[in-house]
Amino acid sequence: MSQDSDNNHKSATLGMSNRLTNYGDADFSLFLRKAFIKGMGYTDDALSRPVIGIANTYSGYNACHGNVPGLVESVKRGVMLAGGLPVEFPTITLHESFAHPTSMYLRNLMALDTEEMIRAQPMDAVVLIGGCDKTVPAQLMAAASADIPTVQLVTGPMLSGSHRGTRVGACTDCRRYWAAYRGQDIDDAEISEVNDKLVPTVGTCSVMGTASTMACLAETMGMMLPNSATAPAVYADRQRIAEQSGAEAVRLAKEGITPSQILTPEAFENALRVLLSLGGSTNALIHLTAIAGRLGIDIDLEAFDQMSAQTPVLVDLKPSGEGYMEDLHRAGGLPTLLRELGPLLHLDAPTINGRTLGENIEAAVHLIDQPVVRPRSRPIYAQGGIAVLRGNLAPSGAIIKQSAASASLMQHRGRAVVFHSLEDLAQRIDDPELDVNPDDVLVLANIGPKGAPGMPEAGYIPIPKKLAAQGVKDMVRISDGRMSGTAAGTIVLHVSPEAAEGGPLGLVRDGDIITLDVAANRLALEVDEQTLESRRQQHSSAAADTGALLGYRRLFMEQILQADQGCDFAVCRPELHCRVPRRSAQTPDQR
Ligand code: FES
Repeated sequence: MSQDSDNNHKSATLGMSNRLTNYGDADFSLFLRKAFIKGMGYTDDALSRPVIGIANTYSGYNACHGNVPGLVESVKRGVMLAGGLPVEFPTITLHESFAHPTSMYLRNLMALDTEEMIRAQPMDAVVLIGGCDKTVPAQLMAAASADIPTVQLVTGPMLSGSHRGTRVGACTDCRRYWAAYRGQDIDDAEISEVNDKLVPTVGTCSVMGTASTMACLAETMGMMLPNSATAPAVYADRQRIAEQSGAEAVRLAKEGITPSQILTPEAFENALRVLLSLGGSTNALIHLTAIAGRLGIDIDLEAFDQMSAQTPVLVDLKPSGEGYMEDLHRAGGLPTLLRELGPLLHLDAPTINGRTLGENIEAAVHLIDQPVVRPRSRPIYAQGGIAVLRGNLAPSGAIIKQSAASASLMQHRGRAVVFHSLEDLAQRIDDPELDVNPDDVLVLANIGPKGAPGMPEAGYIPIPKKLAAQGVKDMVRISDGRMSGTAAGTIVLHVSPEAAEGGPLGLVRDGDIITLDVAANRLALEVDEQTLESRRQQHSSAAADTGALLGYRRLFMEQILQADQGCDFAVCRPELHCRVPRRSAQTPDQR
């Protein structure tokens, strides 16, 4: 870098004098700050540089972030090569299997922590290192609210493993083997053996679960460098991406480009389109709604469903297809899919590297003959991976991952077998006396945002053991909860409003008839309104008095919004001023 440009850049950023602690004397505040940081050995020259914060989310509880220390070093190298001063700082980190009662309960806490640490400390730009399911959404929510120049960097997927010659990976195969164990197809020794093989390296789950989906959407929206969603956690590529992310953050700091300039309505529309074509996680719809909501942008479920009818699933990864994330990386990464979707995307959307999405696609390696991303003429699934359902059972909507459901159950009418809570489910699901048949509809209420609380990923209701032993692999299952992005089955999720908010799901009784018709976007409870009203009168809502609760639990219960509003806290969401996608979402032929 020339001396001139270096000096120009120094004047464009505030560095250490940014966001001073209030002592009533700004010069003294800076004097004191520099005195303390010099205690760690910094020179005045170092402290005069643009400051790039690096959110370090390493934790001994988080294997998905096990490579973060190395990534932090690579980001620092990139920042320093570009003339900036890197300063790492810790934030909350969340791992799916190490967050009680569920990581979703803590996503908004991580978003608040990240946002406030960005706001409180001197930094001209920030690199947010996330990966596991809730971390990237939390960081992007924070970035949208804090609105300083931001680069998202993901830890990258783990590699796939091998069990007795079969390729396996977390966590679609975790569920597949567990279902086989419950069905007594494999024994204690084999389930223990497979437990050693499912997670062979650090990194995020190796299928198109929530973490992989959110990584792909962050890249689509331009918040990550091109081709950075898919590089495995343990590849050298991942470290190079980290170095480049650090350098990019310095450039963004100097140019003053913030997330609100990148996360436009067009960026969200692109993300929704890519979510559908990935066969991606249903959770991503909640997260996108929360991130967009921070910017006053509303995700329109009806229009999303129109978009779904026009957008095929093209990526052949589990759980909708066959492969693993490392296969998509070898197939050219996300740009291979974006190129195929080109006519359906807003290619002029800006990205953090200063180029448009279309320019990034042009610049990416173009592999002609690859087996992972199908052409639009030969899709995995003709429509988008997610369909929206409505009806008297879900007045504010519900969703189903149709690409991972059983074709034979997409239109189904059956008798309800109702579980009123997670505890009720745990006590009765495997009872040999449970009155349940393969054609019944399993209903689980009170696992919504307030009900559980935290909307756990318990929507993947297990097949009752006595039916699993008979070979039943799938049934229609309905809940107001979520499902892991790695799971599959004919599973209706996010029923809104939830039972604990007085939603009709809490009024279903054993033996009621429920109709699911995915093609008609219909989810209906065949019970007359008079009967429902009398049940409503008796229904004691779980969303009761919050006055006895303290701390975060009270904040959560008082502020949490429903799934169709992204489960964000009401106080974090400004007035909505814009809806995406546009109602008249166009087909490829129309463009
Ligand atoms: Fe972290 Fe799956 S548990 S990405």
